[in-house]
Amino acid sequence: MKNEYKILEIKDIIINTQTIKTFIFDWKMEKDEIPNPGQFMMIWNFNGESDEKPMSVSKIDLDNEEIGITVKNIGEFTNNLHSLKIGDELGIRGPYGNHFKLNGDNIIAIGGGVGMAPLRSFVEHAKSENKNVDVVVASVTQCELLFEEDFKKLGVNVFTSTDDGTCGYKGFATHRTIDLLKSRNYDMAIVCGPEIMMKGIFNILEDNNIPGQYSMERYMKCAIGICGQCCVDNTGWRVCIEGPIFSSEEIKQITEFGNYHRNGAGIK
Ligand SMILES: Cc1cc2nc3c(=O)[nH]c(=O)nc-3n(C[C@H](O)[C@H](O)[C@H](O)COP(=O)(O)OP(=O)(O)OC[C@H]3O[C@@H](n4cnc5c(N)ncnc54)[C@H](O)[C@@H]3O)c2cc1C
Ligand code: FES
Repeated sequence: MKNEYKILEIKDIIINTQTIKTFIFDWKMEKDEIPNPGQFMMIWNFNGESDEKPMSVSKIDLDNEEIGITVKNIGEFTNNLHSLKIGDELGIRGPYGNHFKLNGDNIIAIGGGVGMAPLRSFVEHAKSENKNVDVVVASVTQCELLFEEDFKKLGVNVFTSTDDGTCGYKGFATHRTIDLLKSRNYDMAIVCGPEIMMKGIFNILEDNNIPGQYSMERYMKCAIGICGQCCVDNTGWRVCIEGPIFSSEEIKQITEFGNYHRNGAGIK
């Protein structure tokens, strides 16, 4: 595990939606620095502030030695990131955490909003290993659907759903999933999105005996297992070390899943 910062120039910025941008960096793919789908980086923005936040790796390009992170503008830190330009510098350390396992042959990947970020690198990897992959891309409205075109280019089946019905199925990712399961079979599910959505998906997948891997978010400070900020329940699991990916069997033991989380001060 690497705990040193690299100070890297932003190589490219892709505008994905009105609120989401992908930042590309050159990244030397040395042994312990090659990210796996599901892992995250700590991003330090020293351009006028000194905060750092975890961001999933959405793009892992081994050939061109590039990585990408995909950021939704929701608050002060992410708004500052969105104001940066190509050539500006950021501090990056990682990769951290565990990663999605490539189990199963018929896989459904279900993501909501910016939760598509870690799914993008997973789906790319799964396709390169000749797995059958269906992707549910869900968002509140059409203009916020993330990576729909990237997935289509990869040759996977894409099923969109929007809460307001402006693109694809009208309804939540949960409803879309129930509908798909009437006609399609899967032996593994990969899930990332708002926790309330993931809890709904978890219940559906359990009812259908489909094992899942869920990417959890908790407030992080050190990201290397020392501060205890990201512990869940009294399991002793730290989301930055034992997570962020948890299996269905582990999710069953996390009673706070879909119910509450703690802020930076440790308050529920
Ligand atoms: C493993 C992991 C992977 C993530 N991947 C992505 C990603 O790919 N793209 C993306 O846009 N966001 C991702 N996030 C969320 C991101 O780290 C920040 O939480 C979010 O961007 C906060 O933005 P803000 O500070 O501008 O907003 P704020 O308004 O300050 O915060 C909004 C909310 O974000 C949460 N948050 C704030 N700081 C942290 C922190 N240090 N650690 C965890 N949660 C925090 C809090 O719940 C807070 O209420 C990930 C989080 C985790 C834990
Ligand atoms: S963020 Fe410090 S232990 Fe996980």
